[in-house]
Amino acid sequence: MRLTTEEQAMLAGAQGPATKKAMEIVVALANIYEAEELVPVVSAQVAGVSYGNLGDAGLGFLQEWADQGARVKVPTTLNPAGMDLKAWQELGIPEEYATRQLEIIKVYRAMGIAPSCSCTPYLIGNNPGLGQHVAWSESSAVSYANSVLGARTNREGGPSALAAAISGRTAKYGLHLEENRRARHLVEVNCPVESVADFGALGYMVGQKVGDAVPYFRLNSHAKPALEQLKVLGAAMAASGAVALYHVEGVTAEARTGTVLADDPVTMTVEHLKEGYEALDGVARDIDLVWIGCPHASLKEIEKVAELLAGRRTKAQLWVTTARDVLNAARAEGTADKIESCGGRVVADACLLGAPIHEMGFGSVATNSGKGAFYLLSHLGMQVRFGSLFQCVEAAISGRWLP
Ligand code: F3S
Repeated sequence: MRLTTEEQAMLAGAQGPATKKAMEIVVALANIYEAEELVPVVSAQVAGVSYGNLGDAGLGFLQEWADQGARVKVPTTLNPAGMDLKAWQELGIPEEYATRQLEIIKVYRAMGIAPSCSCTPYLIGNNPGLGQHVAWSESSAVSYANSVLGARTNREGGPSALAAAISGRTAKYGLHLEENRRARHLVEVNCPVESVADFGALGYMVGQKVGDAVPYFRLNSHAKPALEQLKVLGAAMAASGAVALYHVEGVTAEARTGTVLADDPVTMTVEHLKEGYEALDGVARDIDLVWIGCPHASLKEIEKVAELLAGRRTKAQLWVTTARDVLNAARAEGTADKIESCGGRVVADACLLGAPIHEMGFGSVATNSGKGAFYLLSHLGMQVRFGSLFQCVEAAISGRWLP
């Protein structure tokens, strides 16, 4: 593997022990994946933020790195934490958990990272362009960056994305290379795919079938999916499979600019979404919590929730998770307040999956997110209902899941 003179110096410790450690991680990965060289990155997205996932061992690891002088070289954003960093008390987060969570954020701040805490960094200014190399973790964000924006990243883990942020480099292999970005699976979708939940169900089905391959979608009954639909499609495929890049004919970045479909692809057709809905939807009748915003909600999605609530009171808890900047925009236009006056919450900085939800007493959750439903079922053993935003909001109002 070739290293530039500057990279060799960083690896030898010329920029201090923290950068040396970062380079060691990046170079180790480059060796494992047989990369021929490293590539500079323009941004990083770091996962491993919630105390629920990191624990004390993770916090100790980060603290030690920061104490060695770790500072990021490129704009770096953070994945969601396990709680709203400001309104955690109102949400019933245990104090001990909150204290640890705030310590983690303090360490990241010391490294020069703004506590953005969102899985949709592309909605709050971390928006790399076509062909730019980045080092992102968080599988749904990776999928969006590669597919919709046409940037280039592998599915980094939290430590490797942080190492890339501190060294400014990542190993050039996998999806950083042009030849690995072509689709060898063609997905002909012949049924209507309309709601966000429909795109989640489709993503679940395709992710299960293609694993970590690159699928190319031909949406024969849908003209042009919106950002909100593309983000859930990628998130669901990244969860049920390990898809890090997909193309949608005439829509996503590289599908618009080049020939990204391989000759003679493996073709699958989707005639209905029943399989996806059946796998993700359970049988619970009573709903404790309705969760919208996985991946984090856009302003448009928050507006839609406010519109569907239409001034009614919620019986179940309703959380709309989003980035703090998006929450601020929703506050400025009054939609966040409308949701809260109905009994719902617009929760910034957090992912429900990183929150102590069992301790908070939630047993059944309704969501319109394919990824959210998949993980609530498979990782947290919750009772889950999966359906459209309309169904979810009605469940929040009545406390019951209605057919
Ligand atoms: Fe984001 Fe958490 Fe969903 S990180 S994609 S809200 S599972």
